[in-house]
Amino acid sequence: MGGLRYFESIGSTNDEALAWAASGAADLSLVAADEQTRGRGRLNRTWYTPKGSALAFSLILHPNSQEQLTRHVGMAALAITDALQSIGLQPRIKWPNDILLNGKKTAGILIETVWAGDKADSIVIGMGINVFAASVPPLEALRFPATSLENDTNGSVPAREELLASILQAVTVRRRQMHTNLFLHEWQDNIAYRGEQVLIHGAGENPMSGTLDGLESDGSLRLSDSQGGCTIVRFGDVSLRPAA
Ligand code: BTN
Repeated sequence: MGGLRYFESIGSTNDEALAWAASGAADLSLVAADEQTRGRGRLNRTWYTPKGSALAFSLILHPNSQEQLTRHVGMAALAITDALQSIGLQPRIKWPNDILLNGKKTAGILIETVWAGDKADSIVIGMGINVFAASVPPLEALRFPATSLENDTNGSVPAREELLASILQAVTVRRRQMHTNLFLHEWQDNIAYRGEQVLIHGAGENPMSGTLDGLESDGSLRLSDSQGGCTIVRFGDVSLRPAA
């Protein structure tokens, strides 16, 4: 690991990590907090991290290559998936950045980049995991059903430090494979709703729909339609839903 900054309470670990990365944090530096008061999700959404209830951290990576930067989200998603599988759970990745247990969201990933000109100098990978039930946001704040590890393990939740260590270990393994075809296949094999009809809501008014076929080499999503057509959905301001 690089450096470590731990906070009892912070606005957002991603904000701290972005500032640290911009001032020269070493590769694999970590910012972790017990509570976030301004936790952020994708699409400017609020991310809840009440005290003592969740795992919230941001990892700073210096990319080894400027190619396939978009694979970092798959790397992070697979690292969480690996850690949850190792405690007997069956997570699925809801493309691009959510982890589901039994169809409900239990973790989210927020990736932000520090650029030096047109080169990605640092990638900040923020991960939020609902460990105890208290970390699940109130129903009115939810756009998608959510759960916690406590709920899905009948209460036998691992200590948050152990879970963190297990995810970081998995990051170091998955990072080494990130540019291989094996990695792409394993990412794809762990995607939720594969072979099912899905809706993608993006910037346009009408959602796209199709059968979720798989992933392109950069991790973009491939949908097919009944006429044999194919749509590639790139990373961006999109959210995916099962059609039914
Ligand atoms: C999402 O599901 O939209 C992504 C959620 C990411 C939340 C994590 S918690 C640690 C880090 N700090 C933040 O403010 N956000 C990320």
